[in-house]
Amino acid sequence: MSRIVLVAPDSRLERQVRLVVAEEMVVIPATDPEQFSGRLGRMAERPELIVFGHQLPRHLALALASAGRQHADSMAIVSDEPDIMVEAMRAGISDVLPTTVDLDAIDLMVARAHEFAMDAAAAGRPAPSLRRLGPGRTIAVASPKGGVGKTMIACNVAVGLALLQPGCVVLVDLDLQFGDVSSTLGLEPVYFLEHAVAKGAARDSLVLKTVLTKHPSGLLVLCGPESPATADRVTAAQVGHLLRQLADEFLYVVVDTSPGLLEHTLTVLEQATDVVAVTSMDVSSVRGMRKELDVLDELGLLPDSRQVVVNQGDRSSGLTIADIETAIGARVDIVIPRTKGVGAASNRGLPVIIDQPRDKASRTLRVLVTRLSTEPTRKGWREASRKEKVS
Ligand SMILES: Nc1ncnc2c1ncn2[C@@H]1O[C@H](COP(=O)(O)OP(=O)(O)OP(=O)(O)O)[C@@H](O)[C@H]1O
Ligand SMILES: [Mg+2]
Repeated sequence: MSRIVLVAPDSRLERQVRLVVAEEMVVIPATDPEQFSGRLGRMAERPELIVFGHQLPRHLALALASAGRQHADSMAIVSDEPDIMVEAMRAGISDVLPTTVDLDAIDLMVARAHEFAMDAAAAGRPAPSLRRLGPGRTIAVASPKGGVGKTMIACNVAVGLALLQPGCVVLVDLDLQFGDVSSTLGLEPVYFLEHAVAKGAARDSLVLKTVLTKHPSGLLVLCGPESPATADRVTAAQVGHLLRQLADEFLYVVVDTSPGLLEHTLTVLEQATDVVAVTSMDVSSVRGMRKELDVLDELGLLPDSRQVVVNQGDRSSGLTIADIETAIGARVDIVIPRTKGVGAASNRGLPVIIDQPRDKASRTLRVLVTRLSTEPTRKGWREASRKEKVS
């Protein structure tokens, strides 16, 4: 059995991985990308994780990753090159490890890859695939309380997806009153949401595309209304139409929302194929999350594919992840730690996954991107929450 494939590792990396997974690994030398892909495809079992060693020339490691991505659930590279992250993500690599990586970090990476592979298998998903036919995915980032990190997560997820599929991802700022996507991403828009719902754009998707603002990552952004007064004139029905138009044109429509369940947010959730439900680690935010998920469940507005994200994870809060899971009646999928890098990146108008790729928050955000870039799981929050209520 070979859960982990190491490509041209140095002896330290090989030893470390062996300590974690014993014999469940295979070491293969660097070949050309076609041979590499063929070899992976012929393996008796699909690898959970491929790790590229730091001695591989960068261009070869990335070419091998691109060729091998459909044969593995997760990929990582060991590299100290500070600017490798963007290209690595484009090649399908979600983790960049420093050459000084320690055993704990390897253990965590292997555990995460295993969990992801189990989820994929349970969902009957053949392979993470970036190709998609038919209407695009609409990913709603929502939370009952304000200030928990929705905008930070929406921006980083959208940029992460855009690095994988430049030109195919649009981020919509639907925090109508206080939207701050443009400042978080350092954009200076000329057009705003009100232009996207005006008659010309609503009738013609080509016109709609001209009011989007380009981000250097390849992401397109529909910035929030220019002022709260114009925001008042945007109706929920217009928002619904807009999202349908965008889903016809893009592979991914990521939507940042305002806190709570206002009419416009409910409209977003009606259209959403995926929800990223965000809570912080404080009691009122967690209670709010439980209520919000219950209400959405009753309204039939909770998409089957959902990621429960605990942001600003912090041991000092007094709550554990197990406490939170009990309180909300569902599994926590991702924990994003509170880090200085997030605030620093945001102050510079940059997404943390690009500005500080080695930041711990960037690592978990990349895992979230990887999960959202695969076919939606059909495990169903509803089923999980019903079980919880019955027990
Ligand atoms: N993991 C994190 N570590 C450190 N700071 C964070 C983290 N997540 C978010 N922040 C900071 O917390 C603040 C609130 O984040 P953000 O604006 O994304 O929240 P929000 O849920 O969109 O808020 P609102 O409901 O007001 O729109 C920002 O200053 C952001 O930089
Ligand atoms: Mg916000």
